Amino acid sequence: MTDTLPDQQSVGADVFRQALAVHASGVVVITAQSDGIPVGLTATSFSSVSLEPPLVSFYVDQSSTTWPWLRGADHFAVNILASDQAELAARFARKGVDRFAAPTNWRAGPLGAPLLADVSAHLICLPYETVEVGDHVLVVGLVAEAATHNTGRPLLYHQGRFGRFLPHQENL
Ligand SMILES: Cc1cc2nc3c(=O)[nH]c(=O)nc-3n(C[C@H](O)[C@H](O)[C@H](O)COP(=O)(O)O)c2cc1C
Repeated sequence: MTDTLPDQQSVGADVFRQALAVHASGVVVITAQSDGIPVGLTATSFSSVSLEPPLVSFYVDQSSTTWPWLRGADHFAVNILASDQAELAARFARKGVDRFAAPTNWRAGPLGAPLLADVSAHLICLPYETVEVGDHVLVVGLVAEAATHNTGRPLLYHQGRFGRFLPHQENL
């Protein structure tokens, strides 16, 4: 695969963003404890990677101020948000606020990484691989623990807005 294309062969930024905006995604908050401090950020780039071994991934912007803290942690948690957690998602994307202060409801997980309350599921991951890709870093985690709490509707992100999943009535 080509690493970089000459400028004239790359899509324009606005056209690229418009096309990506029609792709609906689930929403997670990645959390960790680094030097005893809870850190976390909202991400839609979460994906499953491998079943054996059990791997998941997300991409983090190299300019993220949370990333150096996440990188320093010995494990991280993926909190998969439920449909009524849009405000929580917005909070974990906001700069200049204590993302873990009330009304955020959380507890320390078994290894220390914060687990957010009322999420659909959480995964506890050990660092497996990081790869710099363009202006982001691909972070792959080995899933050490997984717990599903709520199989109800997921929080989705589409066209710059949070929303809910509405299943078709008929079974396809
Ligand atoms: C819906 C949504 C999805 C996001 N997805 C990602 C993502 O996948 N990767 C990422 O690095 N930042 C993502 N962000 C931005 C981060 O949540 C956060 O705003 C950014 O990391 C800046 O904060 P920081 O400097 O504390 O890291 C997303 C933001 C929103 C609102």
